[in-house]
Amino acid sequence: MKSTTSISAAAVLLAAPSVYAGLINFPPIPKDLTTPFQQRLAAYGPSSVSVGWNTYAAQSSGCVQYGTSPDNLNLKSCSTIGSTTYQSSRTYSNVVILSGLAPATTYYYKIVSTNSTVGHFQSPRQPGDKTPFNLDVVVDLGVYGADGFTTSKRDDIPTIQPELNHSTIGRLATTVDDYELVIHPGDFAYADDWFEKPHNLLDGKDAYQAILEQFYDQLAPIAGRKLYMASPGNHEADCTEVPFTSGLCPEGQKNFTDFLHRFGQTMPKAYTSSSTNATAQSLAAKAKSLSNPPFWYSFEYGMVHIAMIDTETDFPNAPDGQDGSAGLDGGPFGATHQQLDFLAADLASVDRSVTPWVIVAGHRPWYTTGDSSSACSSCQDAFEDLLYTYGVDVGVFGHVHNSQRFLPVYKGTADPNGMTDPKAPMYIIAGGTGNIEGLSSVGSVPSYNAFVYADDYSYSTMKFLDEHNLQIDFIRSSTGEILDSSILYKSH
Ligand SMILES: *[C@@H]1O[C@H](CO)[C@@H](O)[C@H](O)[C@H]1NC(C)=O
Ligand SMILES: *[C@@H]1O[C@H](CO)[C@@H](O)[C@H](O)[C@H]1NC(C)=O
Ligand SMILES: *[C@@H]1O[C@H](CO)[C@@H](O)[C@H](O)[C@H]1NC(C)=O
Ligand SMILES: *[C@@H]1O[C@H](CO)[C@@H](O)[C@H](O)[C@H]1NC(C)=O
Repeated sequence: MKSTTSISAAAVLLAAPSVYAGLINFPPIPKDLTTPFQQRLAAYGPSSVSVGWNTYAAQSSGCVQYGTSPDNLNLKSCSTIGSTTYQSSRTYSNVVILSGLAPATTYYYKIVSTNSTVGHFQSPRQPGDKTPFNLDVVVDLGVYGADGFTTSKRDDIPTIQPELNHSTIGRLATTVDDYELVIHPGDFAYADDWFEKPHNLLDGKDAYQAILEQFYDQLAPIAGRKLYMASPGNHEADCTEVPFTSGLCPEGQKNFTDFLHRFGQTMPKAYTSSSTNATAQSLAAKAKSLSNPPFWYSFEYGMVHIAMIDTETDFPNAPDGQDGSAGLDGGPFGATHQQLDFLAADLASVDRSVTPWVIVAGHRPWYTTGDSSSACSSCQDAFEDLLYTYGVDVGVFGHVHNSQRFLPVYKGTADPNGMTDPKAPMYIIAGGTGNIEGLSSVGSVPSYNAFVYADDYSYSTMKFLDEHNLQIDFIRSSTGEILDSSILYKSH
């Protein structure tokens, strides 16, 4: 969401600079510059996992040792390309792909460094594995602490371990055995809200980088432990959301630069089809060639096919595109129509006997409570018919900072079948996970809305019970309380 607060406070404080000089909250640079930080894993293929991390010095080749026992990391994989970075960044992104993994198996891994420890993860389930599993949905997750939000929204921050006191990251940590992967369609860190804190006002360039470093350090206990699938939101577009500071936006902080460095080599292209159907195989091959991670791509995990889409750029009147309504001047990242052609081929390629469930996840919703300006009508024009035509089960979005669930709906009309074999997708919003902008009020509620919650931070869990039943819960982050629970039935 766009923030419009604090601008006048910012203008006042600019007049009294000396008090705030030198207060950027950069994490300390370690003595050992090979130390890995900001670890992030992703499903990279049916039997592959990407391991991404940042270092404070360039590495000519990153390596990861791994194996199925913590005492015997007998396998090793190295990247052929070195670290990447960009102007204004203090850190370097590294990535290694681990392939040929046994399915749904615990692997132990150690990023090769003179100062690293052994972590572990579960490798992906094969497409077509019908074992029940859960995935968590978080969107609009911001940095916690002095440069971000606090559980109480106060500015006096206690000295704490940030990752455990970020109520949503903390809940993801305490429930770590309850879910197998996380999808996060957009808005990470909120580094572009640096101007909200007075101590950052004199050094927006460094404040932006400092928030990114802090946030991805806070997220690492989760993203370095679970497959963590990312796609873009408006907060990845540019170093600032407010036109008043746009003159301070330096090279290296525009056009999704950090997002691209961090996730560009870790998110997968669409998978090769596991179907025996030749039409499905050729459509999946087409989708693979048109996919453009980390902006738009798909992956399969057990009984679900998930397409991650880019609601920011690369379709007609895309809000963050060049001349887009958000004024963020991003993209395009593909050829004209590439994203929409990808999505059409990708959804058409799904063999429902392999992956009965089909989810599309993006950042900006077209169904939401509240102010109609939060509903992305150009997204609806671009995507809604594709979701409907190809029988997508659930559309997952964020951008509005609260939790919402909609009954299956198409073009503003509720599906007459409701939650039992609807033709239209149901939609959820899981944007209430916590960030410096706070929660969005509920506002007006359309008749096809089934649940909305904006009293505290929250997120969603999708439980794939079997081929026909998908349970979606909303969880209050601070307590673990289940706020809403529903089951979508599909005969598929
Ligand atoms: C080793 O890594 C930890 C983080 O895992 C870091 O806090 C510490 O400073 C590093 N030690 C050195 C010598 O760089
Ligand atoms: C922050 O987390 C620590 C460790 O879990 C806990 O002891 C402390 O009470 C928490 N502080 C706040 C303000 O929630
Ligand atoms: C193969 O896939 C196509 C496209 O998804 C579908 O129309 C067709 O019915 C499938 N054929 C078989 C034998 O399943
Ligand atoms: C953003 O980056 C893409 C990919 O590098 C490039 O094609 C596009 O022109 C850039 N957009 C702007 C506004 O610089």
